[in-house]
Amino acid sequence: MSEALIKTFSKSLLAWHGVSGRTGLPWQNNHDPYAVWVSEIMLQQTQVATVLERYPRFMKRFPTVKKLAAADLDEVLAEWAGLGYYSRARNLHACANQVMQDFLGKFPSDPILLEQLKGIGRSTAGAIAAFAFQERAPILDANVKRILARLFAVEGALQDKALNDQLWNLANNLLPKKSQDMPIYTQALMDFGATWCTARKPVCISMEKKCPFAKDCQANLSDQVLSFPQKKVKARSPEFDCDMLLIRSGNSILLQQRPSKAIWGGLWSLPESAWRPKGQKIHKANTSLKELLELALPEETNSVLAKFFKTPKRGDQIKHIFTHRRLWIQIWELSSTKTFQLIAPNLKWVPLSQLGRYGLPQPIKVLLQRLSLARGDDLKN
Ligand code: ADE
Repeated sequence: MSEALIKTFSKSLLAWHGVSGRTGLPWQNNHDPYAVWVSEIMLQQTQVATVLERYPRFMKRFPTVKKLAAADLDEVLAEWAGLGYYSRARNLHACANQVMQDFLGKFPSDPILLEQLKGIGRSTAGAIAAFAFQERAPILDANVKRILARLFAVEGALQDKALNDQLWNLANNLLPKKSQDMPIYTQALMDFGATWCTARKPVCISMEKKCPFAKDCQANLSDQVLSFPQKKVKARSPEFDCDMLLIRSGNSILLQQRPSKAIWGGLWSLPESAWRPKGQKIHKANTSLKELLELALPEETNSVLAKFFKTPKRGDQIKHIFTHRRLWIQIWELSSTKTFQLIAPNLKWVPLSQLGRYGLPQPIKVLLQRLSLARGDDLKN
């Protein structure tokens, strides 16, 4: 089955392009490598509709690689304004200079040499070689990866090297025999991925149109088109519990500055217990003051605090998600109308009206806002 598809694929795709491919785009049918290169870079992260507007303008301003290389980088960046991903503009300028210096102003046709130029990856090198020089060089952008993973039901997540090696191999084996077919074949692959074999609503699912590969596509035959390419299974991030003390004395709350190398390093937060794996020890609602103080504060402050506070009140539980871990924070509220000194490094009574002057971790900021301990305004940066 697969062997048969490998033999017929390019012919079927070229036939498909004759009927349903995109035509009339200003960068098509142009074999000038400079023009091809600029269009491929601009199309990388920008929608076709925007490129239709901006590409002719760029080409008018910088009609040759020589003119682009001779321009100031600032002029190139200004012309690129609004297109985003400005490293593309910086790379265009640097690449134009490389072409002038290392290749006497002529783009090389070999994809291996093209790939050595600034800002040109393996797939873009293939596209330039195919469009401008009719080289039998494969492309493998995100759209093509999706097409091939579906047609051949290739297993593995997109980030996996083994999957990518396999797809590059396939992309190579599927190329048309005749090199003069390369420009249209390459454009057809891009168009088929962008308009028919789309990520969320490929034509085989909506059945609006009849996909030429419906009977050969392994993913379609097993009704699993949307399962290819496979997503990386993310390991569930570990979960932790901790306790934090919200200690109020008069109009102030007790903040503790976090060590500089810890999470939220250097920010001011509520005194906090060590983290423990979730569910290992949950403190009961009637946990004693002494026990909580020992969990979260240095020993020398506890005897003073114990004089001013009575039973702790179990407050909210907050879930906070970090990139690689999840933290469940149990808040314990202690309140006294009396005010007193507390001398300890990294601990400070902060009047509610001055909270805005302190960098607070996001969940603590939200908590304090919710408890109306601070007006929203006070906490804005
Ligand atoms: N995306 C990248 N290259 C393209 C091209 N030549 N045509 C349409 N979309 C593209």
